Amino acid sequence: MVYDAADEAATDALGAALATLLPRPACVALRGTLGSGKTRLVQALAAALGIDRALVSSPTFVLLHEYPGHTPLYHFDAYRLRDSEEFWNLGAEDYLADRHAVTIIEWAERIPRCLPAQRLEIDIEVTGPTQRQFRISALGPDYRSVAEGLRAWSDRPQR
Ligand SMILES: Nc1ncnc2c1ncn2[C@@H]1O[C@H](COP(=O)(O)OP(=O)(O)O)[C@@H](O)[C@H]1O
Ligand SMILES: [Mg+2]
Repeated sequence: MVYDAADEAATDALGAALATLLPRPACVALRGTLGSGKTRLVQALAAALGIDRALVSSPTFVLLHEYPGHTPLYHFDAYRLRDSEEFWNLGAEDYLADRHAVTIIEWAERIPRCLPAQRLEIDIEVTGPTQRQFRISALGPDYRSVAEGLRAWSDRPQR
């Protein structure tokens, strides 16, 4: 599905929808150029999960941030990862297997072989100063209901 966000509030709304629709465990793979809004979407998701979004920053030098909560949020940034091995060395397998958690990965295209077969893929494109286009694909049966839920959500009457 394609979701056009007119502004950051619309991105927050997407984060809130994802927080309720994603399975646990969940893996979300984010793609998009620098400044497209990957970290901003993680902030939106964090806020919806009851995590202080001010805690969420680009994991520039830290490759992984952990935000505890009823749904723990594991936030990876693959931009500076040398290779897949470095990702596994961070303990990625255990994070991805945490059955209460959501794992979200910026620059996921850098570690294609590490991504679980079942996941949500989100491509973000800058379409204006405050506009962003989110192209969302659900991979695997566990994510089918996410796709359906998102479609119903984006078709909802707008206030
Ligand atoms: N609708 C929107 N959704 C997300 N970010 C937006 C939006 N409009 C403007 N922005 C801005 O775009 C920038 C995105 O930065 P960031 O999330 O750090 O990008 P990335 O992590 O992809 O490099 C932020 O400065 C944010 O305020
Ligand atoms: Mg970022």
